[in-house]
Amino acid sequence: MLLWVSRLVSVFLTTSSVCLSTSWAFHDCIEASVQMRQRRENHVGFLAGRSPLLTSPPCAGGICVGMKNGPHQGGNASYPVAWNGINGTFVHSTMTVPEYPRKLDGITYYLWTDIFFGDGGLGRMNQFVPQLLLGDVLDGSSGYPDYKPSWKHHDTWVFGAHYFFETWNATSNRTNAHAAYGKLYPTFPGETLYTSFQLLTQNPHSSNKDDIITPQWILTMGVVGDQTRVSRLVVDQPYMGMGAHWQNPTTSWLEPSYQNMCINACWEIYGAFNAAHLPSSGGHYNLTIAQPSSNNNEAKYNFTYWVRDEGNGVCPWCKVTESHKDAVQTVLIDVGVRISDNQLSFGKATTAVVTG
Ligand SMILES: *[C@@H]1O[C@H](CO)[C@@H](O)[C@H](O)[C@H]1NC(C)=O
Ligand SMILES: *[C@@H]1O[C@H](CO)[C@@H](O)[C@H](O)[C@H]1NC(C)=O
Ligand SMILES: *[C@@H]1O[C@H](CO)[C@@H](O)[C@H](O)[C@H]1NC(C)=O
Ligand SMILES: *[C@@H]1O[C@H](CO)[C@@H](O)[C@H](O)[C@H]1NC(C)=O
Ligand SMILES: *[C@@H]1O[C@H](CO)[C@@H](O)[C@H](O)[C@H]1NC(C)=O
Ligand SMILES: *[C@@H]1O[C@H](CO)[C@@H](O)[C@H](O)[C@H]1NC(C)=O
Repeated sequence: MLLWVSRLVSVFLTTSSVCLSTSWAFHDCIEASVQMRQRRENHVGFLAGRSPLLTSPPCAGGICVGMKNGPHQGGNASYPVAWNGINGTFVHSTMTVPEYPRKLDGITYYLWTDIFFGDGGLGRMNQFVPQLLLGDVLDGSSGYPDYKPSWKHHDTWVFGAHYFFETWNATSNRTNAHAAYGKLYPTFPGETLYTSFQLLTQNPHSSNKDDIITPQWILTMGVVGDQTRVSRLVVDQPYMGMGAHWQNPTTSWLEPSYQNMCINACWEIYGAFNAAHLPSSGGHYNLTIAQPSSNNNEAKYNFTYWVRDEGNGVCPWCKVTESHKDAVQTVLIDVGVRISDNQLSFGKATTAVVTG
């Protein structure tokens, strides 16, 4: 036990200089989000600041909720990634599996809670996004060493832990997409899925000090109450280790580029501009963001408010509430879908809505 404690103390000393220099990673986080926003703008619709009462098309295709003044809004809000030497910021989220849409033709459904980071080296996108999938979706990976993404059509819900990233190729002047995936599992309307992100040491009992300070991110997605459907992805290094050979190598999650995280929850649905193509029911998200217990004051930070930052707020619509204590934040999101001009399906219940 004493050995354990003294090892921790040395880790604090080693990592504290890293913790201090969070500011330049901040801009990388926003650069990444600009690209992500451009990609989604035509689909989910980035409508913050515009009228929420759009008449045409009636549905925005999707909805996102995130930290107020976060990257989706063009702002710089993010949370530092706390790390106490054995344990880091912990994000846990639950989400309802909604009823199927009445029409599926050609639509892509990604429903998720994500965290993403700034970029290091040739990396251009750094998103942990375990997701619930339906329709024409990116659902697989060639695995080591190229991590090429692959796509498939699904007529029923499936989910899996997922890391999406891009790398810059100067020769072709393009970014290349990459994916790492955990196992896919089926799930059914009405079930509750959980997603968790843990930053943990690879080997807390090792006598090798280098092992102790090299944490990995562990992505888990599963069905609440069913231990047989758990999709897990362990990410030892940024970009699945591809950055080890770059001119400016990147190999550890403790590097400054990854010291800030942005968190969102989205129904990212491509092409669903009417109610028939949205899921037929809404659902609930419950996010918990916890800082690790720590005697390192630098690991403490203030939580921000959460807001809808993509979608038109009408179809689908959402209600967001947030509460926090010193080291834990809870964000509750209710998502509702318009099923006719004057009705919304909200969870299992159906509520009349006054339109104006
Ligand atoms: C975020 O942006 C605001 C202005 O919008 C600025 O005052 C603040 O310093 C920025 N924070 C960081 C950490 O860059
Ligand atoms: C970069 O692009 C060039 C030209 O398209 C290609 O030949 C090369 O294989 C690519 N490099 C990587 C690492 O993908
Ligand atoms: C790289 O592509 C961008 C557009 O994506 C273009 O503006 C730029 O000129 C290209 N650079 C080179 C060297 O071809
Ligand atoms: C949200 O999740 C937290 C942590 O699991 C739990 O304590 C809380 O009761 C949940 N809230 C709701 C409304 O389900
Ligand atoms: C890490 O921190 C989380 C949240 O603070 C806590 O639930 C978990 O038990 C901790 N894990 C370890 C291994 O200390
Ligand atoms: C957190 O908020 C408190 C109260 O508003 C403020 O005094 C403190 O400086 C803030 N801490 C950080 C790290 O922003």
